[in-house]
Formats: sequence, structure tokens, C-alpha cells
Amino acid sequence: MAKGKKVTIIGTGNFGSTVAFILAMNGSCHEVVLRGRSIDVAKGKALDMSQAANAARKHTIVRAAKNAEDIADSDIVIITAGTPRTPGMNRDDLLLKNAKIVKNYSLEIKKYAPEAIVVVVSNPLDAMTYVALKTTEFPKERVLGMAGILDAARMAHFIYEKLEYGAGQIRATVMGGHGDTMVPLPKFTTVAGVPIEDLLDSEEIGEIVRKTKNGGAQIVNLLGDGSAYYAPAKSTTVMVDAILQDSRQIHSCAVMLNGEYGYNNIITGVPAMIGAAGVEKVIEMTLKPLQKEKFKKSVESVQELINKLYQLNFFKEDVSDEK
Ligand code: LAC
Repeated sequence: MAKGKKVTIIGTGNFGSTVAFILAMNGSCHEVVLRGRSIDVAKGKALDMSQAANAARKHTIVRAAKNAEDIADSDIVIITAGTPRTPGMNRDDLLLKNAKIVKNYSLEIKKYAPEAIVVVVSNPLDAMTYVALKTTEFPKERVLGMAGILDAARMAHFIYEKLEYGAGQIRATVMGGHGDTMVPLPKFTTVAGVPIEDLLDSEEIGEIVRKTKNGGAQIVNLLGDGSAYYAPAKSTTVMVDAILQDSRQIHSCAVMLNGEYGYNNIITGVPAMIGAAGVEKVIEMTLKPLQKEKFKKSVESVQELINKLYQLNFFKEDVSDEK
């Protein structure tokens, strides 16, 4: 357990609340701060979770932020705020609306928690992580997005559903943007070290890849009024715990590329080593030509979104009215 650590969660919807609840139940940190649009809702959830922490005999205290100053001294700030998808929308449809929200909160973080590591989970994920990085002007090591862990967890789920064995032993790999062009990598996916290609035929693997890419939309369609939050929240806390415990684990995360994989000034999902400093190392895997091609398409789709923001003068515009 890391002592005295403070994690702030921006956004008290299903996603943010579930992240807070998992952190409180694990006793991952000393203090969790909830910053939401309604202080009363944040207060109510904070009280409920602090009481749950007591029931679980954990010492984590969950508090509501009354104002932006209350995020001061956060070790980690998680940005979950934004509008989720509803049926028929893809993650990119949320671009400008959520970019304004992420920009405003990033300015708060820059002002009040300048030493924090920022974990972004708002969609469209890679572009929103880019907005947070450019707005905070933090070093690239301290701004990262959650997506690869979630997409890999979904892929692992679909593999288990097909195999009906190997639960907990499936290590799946997904790279690229967290969108329709994400790149599940069966060749880097094993069950207890056994390549899935030795366990499933190519048709079955193709189906798993399709299901993985559609994993978020499947849940959006079933829920009818929002997107998934349990797996996304758990995936986020895996990253938070790696930072708090300085575990230096490798996870697929959305990070700024600086020459890795041949790309610059773009954020996309790649395996990265995560520790107390944030993104401590980007891991470069050797990709086969087809994998490279798919990764390129995925990077280009993120680039398109970022270009749209530049075309709209987004990084210059005053957006102080949105939250
Ligand atoms: C999903 C959302 C969180 O994939 O992007 O469920």
C-alpha cells in the first residue's frame, strides 16, 4: 500500500464512481477525491464509499472536491468527464464536446496539481489524451490514456468464452487507437504461454478479433443509455496501481510517441512500462508487415481527429463556458 497518496477523479458518473469504488475497496491510496459537476452528488458518493471502505476495513478516505483547489497535491488525476456514447454513435462523434470538457479540466490540473500524473479515459480516448497533454504542457511521461488494458481484457474474455478454459491465464495484446481501427494482435496473445493459434483456428480467431473491436459498442447497444464502466474502471485502476506501487509493469496504454514505431507527435496505444514516474518506457515490438499496416491505419484515424481539432482552432480558442 502506498502511504499518503492522493488520487483525484474528475467525473462522478458511472465510470468515475466505479474507479473510486475500486480504489477504495483495494485501499490503493490514502485519499480519493471526487470532482464532479454536482457537489452534492460527489459528497453523497464520497460518503457512501468511505463507509464502504470502513466495511471493507480499508483506510482509504473518499472526499468530494468543493472547488478546483481541492485537487491540489494529487499524485494522480483521472479524467473521466465527458459525454458517453449512446447507440448509433461511435467514439469519434464525441470529439469537440468532450475536447472542450477535457481542456477545461486540464487547465485546472495544470494550475492546481502541476506535479500530478494524468490518466485520461474520456472518449475519443487517444485524441482526448492528446488534448490533456497539450493543455497541461506536462512532460509526455505524465499524461497517458487508458484503453489497451480494456481492449485486451475484452479480447481475453472472448477467447475464454470460445475456449472455456484458461481463465486468468490469457494474455491478450491490443495496440493502436481505442476506436474502430484498434489492432488486436493474436500473434502476441497466449494462454499460459501457449499461442492462441495453437488452440483456435483462423476463423475462430477472426471472430474474436471482430468481437473485440465491437466490444464497447455491444455494451452501448445493450445498455441503451451509456457505455460500459466496470471493465473500463477496473482497467484504469490497473494503471493507477502500477503508478502508485511503482510496479514497472508493461501495459498497453495510449502514450505520446516520439519516434517509436516511426511516429512523432501522436498518441496511440502501445505497450509501455508504467511506474512511479508514469510512462517510464515505450516498448517497441517487432511488427509484421500486415500488423504494421493495420497499426498505421489506426494511427491515421487518431491523427484525423487531432487534425480536426487544429482545423477548428481548438487549441487557441477560449472554451471556458463548457464543463
Ligand atoms: C468502451 C468505452 C469506455 O470501450 O470506450 O467501453
